[in-house]
Amino acid sequence: MKHSSQNSKKKLSIPPLAYAAAAVAAIGGILFGFDTGIISGAILFVQHDFSMTISERSWAVSMVLVGAIIGSASGGYLSDKLGRRKSIISSAALVVIGTIIITASPDVYLFFAGRFIIGTGIGVASFISPMYISEVAPKSIRGAMVSLNQLMVTVGILVAYMVSLYFSPSGNWRAMFFAAVIPAVALIIGMIVLPSSPRWLVFKGNVDKAMNVAERFTYDKEKADDAIRQMEIENKEQKNAKISELWSPSVRYVTIIGVMMAVLQQATGINTVIYFAPTIFEFAGYADATASIAASVGVGIVNVILTIVSIFLVDRVGRRPLLLVSLSGMILSLLGLSAVFSIGAASLGVYTAVFLMTYIASFAIGLGPIFWLLIAEIYPLRVRGKAMSVATVANWTSNFVISLTFLGLVSLLGTNTVFFMYAIVGVISLIFVLKLVPETKGLSLEEITKK
Ligand code: GLC
Repeated sequence: MKHSSQNSKKKLSIPPLAYAAAAVAAIGGILFGFDTGIISGAILFVQHDFSMTISERSWAVSMVLVGAIIGSASGGYLSDKLGRRKSIISSAALVVIGTIIITASPDVYLFFAGRFIIGTGIGVASFISPMYISEVAPKSIRGAMVSLNQLMVTVGILVAYMVSLYFSPSGNWRAMFFAAVIPAVALIIGMIVLPSSPRWLVFKGNVDKAMNVAERFTYDKEKADDAIRQMEIENKEQKNAKISELWSPSVRYVTIIGVMMAVLQQATGINTVIYFAPTIFEFAGYADATASIAASVGVGIVNVILTIVSIFLVDRVGRRPLLLVSLSGMILSLLGLSAVFSIGAASLGVYTAVFLMTYIASFAIGLGPIFWLLIAEIYPLRVRGKAMSVATVANWTSNFVISLTFLGLVSLLGTNTVFFMYAIVGVISLIFVLKLVPETKGLSLEEITKK
């Protein structure tokens, strides 16, 4: 009798708790997207209120990234020390604190401080949310669940654009930032309710409890037993792994791929569009802030939709074809943008919109989600945690450099030249992917490692 009830549960196969855990942790992705995206519309108003110089405007955008570099660098340590759940709760708490400081900031310095604190929160979340998801997700849907986090990043960006649009007629930028408190509090409450990651419990030597939680995530005692035993083995291996192993002859190749993909994902300019879309529309002659922000909502929608398409395609057509299509589309769009800005007629504003859309669509179908997927699957288990953390820090650091220099480069060289430079990086990325990035479709993590 007991057996048959277990069987009927087996048919359900994936317990709602696993979905709930992934959905809640993915709110970390929403915070990442929202807090990086919200500045793009808000900056048009903040810069007036605080009479910002170009360099202050750049820092207003990039301060969050300095925080994120530090947050993601401490992610590995925090996740082991506090546990995944408490780290995620702390990251959301940091977002709430930073948001309150920004909302109340009387001057540019407190504004920067608030952005920095938010950054540390989303940096931690960018590392630990996907980690928690991958640790609680049943093996069969782990890939899709990890990608859910990137999808939520794009949703966060879109929500940020819509919130900016809503408040832009009144110019109330403080309200725009304040909206982040809603997902942050939802994340805190959700994580308080959810159980700890079984892997972390094993790490802490709490095997009985780990077994209990693993069963709740799988319904199946046998599978849970296997998983925990596997975790105990992995755990010993990972605990002894040193960071220097990332440069050992057998791992060096994938370490380089992870870091290079992190850098190239950013150096092809994606976040100049995500963070500055309304500013770019203003450069292109759009009449006012509201019109520019409205056009950006279009960019946000395309980003979400094509990310969904990518998640649907990635296990069918593979990573490499999507990356190659993605980069080719990005290069052509960047060349198009460069051409439009070279000609410079205000009547060409509509082409700016078209090329920004094709650029973002191309990014979202490949380079955007696939970078995050690759770093979750190319490393041998022994060094996976450390290698992912190095790649994540490389991603935020390159993001910081590109975003901080964008406005300065535009005023120095012109928008056309800057987009042309990103197109050249696109060509380098294309060659890199063509020559060096392996196809990982349909392989188990172990097979990928042996490749
Ligand atoms: C990826 C990038 C991130 C960017 C986002 C845009 O997650 O890593 O920097 O803002 O895509 O959708």
